[in-house]
Amino acid sequence: MTFDQKVIWITGASSGIGKSLAIELSKKNTKIILSSRNEAKLNEAKKKCDHQKNIKILPLDLEDYASLKAKTEEAIKLFGKIDVLFNNGGISQRSLVKDTNISVDKRILDINYLGTIALTKAVLPYFIQQKSGVFVVTTSIVGKIGTPLRSSYAASKHALHGFLIV
Ligand SMILES: NC(=O)c1ccc[n+]([C@@H]2O[C@H](COP(=O)([O-])OP(=O)(O)OC[C@H]3O[C@@H](n4cnc5c(N)ncnc54)[C@H](OP(=O)(O)O)[C@@H]3O)[C@@H](O)[C@H]2O)c1
Repeated sequence: MTFDQKVIWITGASSGIGKSLAIELSKKNTKIILSSRNEAKLNEAKKKCDHQKNIKILPLDLEDYASLKAKTEEAIKLFGKIDVLFNNGGISQRSLVKDTNISVDKRILDINYLGTIALTKAVLPYFIQQKSGVFVVTTSIVGKIGTPLRSSYAASKHALHGFLIV
């Protein structure tokens, strides 16, 4: 696909892969919505992008599923449409199973898996109505093969493969 004139919504855009992706895509005549929890860091990421008028900030928390339908409505209003949802936001873990509290396992699944599918399900009716739209997801090699110290992180990425990748 060409990115020309596309509206691309990126989660996890305040740092790392999402921020770099936004900077690169901003050079390709796109309109971009940057989302994550930290508004100050989103603004810093925006400043690194080309064509500032084509970049908007929309803070959200993937752990707060109930807010994501309303956030999707806000996102659509920013540029009048969405063409691509780039599901990139997530957290990681490095700990032995025996040392990892179940609250950590739950939080990783809440953010990486349930938050991502909740946002995807909020955008899906809009893509169906529009008769176009692309979902992208950043998973990991541990979404295919688990590795030591990454049990719940690997499980969350396996779950994304099961749900989103056909
Ligand atoms: N780095 C790697 O080697 C690697 C390899 C494979 C896959 N990945 C995946 O790539 C994606 C990006 O990772 P990264 O390496 O770029 O890490 P990173 O720099 O830590 O970026 C993670 C992003 O997710 C956001 N985020 C975290 N919790 C969130 C929440 N509850 N709601 C909304 N946004 C949230 C963070 O922003 P806020 O703190 O502002 O919310 C941040 O923008 C992740 O899905 C990760 O699993 C990374």
